[in-house]
Amino acid sequence: MGGENGGLEMSGTAQKHVVLGVTGGIAAYKACDLASKLTQRGVQVHVIMTEHAARFVCPATFRELTGQPVVVDMFAENPGLPIAHIALARMADLLLIAPATANVIGKMAAGIADDALTTTALAVEAPVLLAPAMNTKMWEKPVVQENLAKLRQRGVLIVGPAEGVLACGEVGAGRLAPVEEILAAALHLLGLEEGAARKAGTGTAGTASVPPAAGDASLAGWRVLVTAGPTQEPLDPVRFLSNRSSGKMGYAIAAAASARGAQVTLVSGPVALQPPVGVEVVAVQTAQEMADAVAQRLDSCDVFVAAAAVADFRPATVQPEKIKKQEGTETLELRLVRTPDILAMAGERRRQRGGQGGPILVGFAAETGSRNLIELARDKLQRKGVDLVVANDVTAAGSGFGTDTNQVHLVWAGGQVESWPLLRKDEVARRLWNRLSQFRQGRS
Ligand SMILES: Cc1cc2nc3c(=O)[nH]c(=O)nc-3n(C[C@H](O)[C@H](O)[C@H](O)COP(=O)(O)O)c2cc1C
Repeated sequence: MGGENGGLEMSGTAQKHVVLGVTGGIAAYKACDLASKLTQRGVQVHVIMTEHAARFVCPATFRELTGQPVVVDMFAENPGLPIAHIALARMADLLLIAPATANVIGKMAAGIADDALTTTALAVEAPVLLAPAMNTKMWEKPVVQENLAKLRQRGVLIVGPAEGVLACGEVGAGRLAPVEEILAAALHLLGLEEGAARKAGTGTAGTASVPPAAGDASLAGWRVLVTAGPTQEPLDPVRFLSNRSSGKMGYAIAAAASARGAQVTLVSGPVALQPPVGVEVVAVQTAQEMADAVAQRLDSCDVFVAAAAVADFRPATVQPEKIKKQEGTETLELRLVRTPDILAMAGERRRQRGGQGGPILVGFAAETGSRNLIELARDKLQRKGVDLVVANDVTAAGSGFGTDTNQVHLVWAGGQVESWPLLRKDEVARRLWNRLSQFRQGRS
């Protein structure tokens, strides 16, 4: 039936199986679109619905969209699926639950297995991706956030929710992430996003995140704060000062940590990248906003990686109206003032604690001209009082802003310097977390 649906066969690729769990939220109807789009990519989709989901959408809809039987009642005869929850758990390359109600999140966090979906969730060994959707007040309840944190620590990945107007009329967080975003995350986890996602125009090209190694939860329990991208410092309502940072390095670092089970917050300047799967993204524009967002979160993280290219200066005043050309005037003088130094602020907090405790601090140094790169990094390390500076020459071939590769030098507070070859940014990120794991072990 996949063929009847316009399904594309994945030439040369073993067919992937996604178990799509649908739970009893108003957004259950959007799961039909998701099931259809996955099927069109040649993925075999096996839908498990909760009893409550089946009150929102008829199982026959999913059966026709996917060409597969739909499991609702695990005690019913499910043709072709003896002991359906075990058969499906074994078959799954990915368990995707969209929408995921507060109820199913709570049950999974508690290890409850009282229906076909939660029993499958307990039996499955494949990666699990949840797309929560619920009323904002429900989403904000500490118990829901605690349950999600527990699941994250066990390596469960979370996409969304989005903010906006909810079905209940409230405005805030809780909307199901856009179907295209869930689809991109799922294809990404299946290793199918290259080409497949572009065919759909989902725009994952340029995403810097890496597919997680299934079952790698080596950073579970870590709370990671990352900054990425440029900042924009307004000059007037239509102009700003900024830089060429694409955010790819910071996004790769956040994605790699999340893929290993860390709880990651990414404070991001304006970039054209998809949020990495499972990462909380705090969008900011200016250096001051980035500094405020970091200051709020710094004391509750275990590692802070400052990968953003933060403006050092901003216009002293922001003109309320667009600056106009003046007749007979050939020059315009701008007065710039310093912006907050985010990494120095983090180092200063450590100094105030007498150099003890607090997060591991990692800074990035983007330099132009490799001659004094290591010296400049050492100087930055000492001035800011951090543990590690990752230095790169952004003008070198294949390195720096906008590229998918980077050649970096790690300059540690202990004096060691490691120079890595030119690597993909996701590989730099992977190696960086390996080194930070070792560093943290040695520190404790
Ligand atoms: C009209 C309606 C809409 C609902 N929407 C949601 C929702 O979006 N998210 C949610 O977590 N619960 C929602 N609920 C509550 C769930 O249906 C309820 O918690 C149920 O027990 C979930 O069961 P399940 O997780 O087994 O599907 C809704 C209930 C109703 C009646």
